[in-house]
Amino acid sequence: MANALFNDNRLKLGVFGLNVSHGCAATTAEGHLEPTWQNNVKIASMADRAGIEALVPVARWKGFGGKTNFNGECFESYTWAAGLAGATRQSSVFSTSHVPTMHPIVAAKQGTTIDHISNGRFVLNVVCGWYEPEFLMFGAPLMEHDTLYEYAADSV
Ligand SMILES: Cc1cc2nc3c(=O)[nH]c(=O)nc-3n(C[C@H](O)[C@H](O)[C@H](O)COP(=O)(O)O)c2cc1C
Repeated sequence: MANALFNDNRLKLGVFGLNVSHGCAATTAEGHLEPTWQNNVKIASMADRAGIEALVPVARWKGFGGKTNFNGECFESYTWAAGLAGATRQSSVFSTSHVPTMHPIVAAKQGTTIDHISNGRFVLNVVCGWYEPEFLMFGAPLMEHDTLYEYAADSV
């Protein structure tokens, strides 16, 4: 099975943020996304059957507090991708990874494992991050912007 990101469609489509509470909608409105595993499998399966190319999680270690604690409930993105690899057939399964929170050797090993589980459908979304409270959880203060990108280039 080829990775859907390399199919013939000129415009690729993805679903983003199904692993985090409220998804991408910071709202107190009713009906927000609850990221149970059952909901994740349901959404991912629908997208997979519809031919959507990409299932992309948010990397989040700490919610944003306040009334809804936006994104406070979430699945870790590598193990999430490994699980959805087994529940889907054609969509690419991504992990999203902040470079300062993940050692590149661990990322490579985990990504390779998910690539085997998914039969070549794994993709890594490398991000630098910006939310300092979650970096502090790792004892890694937020670096100055350009230094962070140099660090990211070294990591990949
Ligand atoms: C497609 C995409 C996905 C992203 N996903 C996340 C994420 O899951 N978690 C996160 O903290 N930041 C995420 N970011 C934000 C990046 O960490 C970074 O803050 C953003 O790209 C801004 O970069 P800049 O500081 O160079 O402007 C994402 C960015 C993009 C473009």
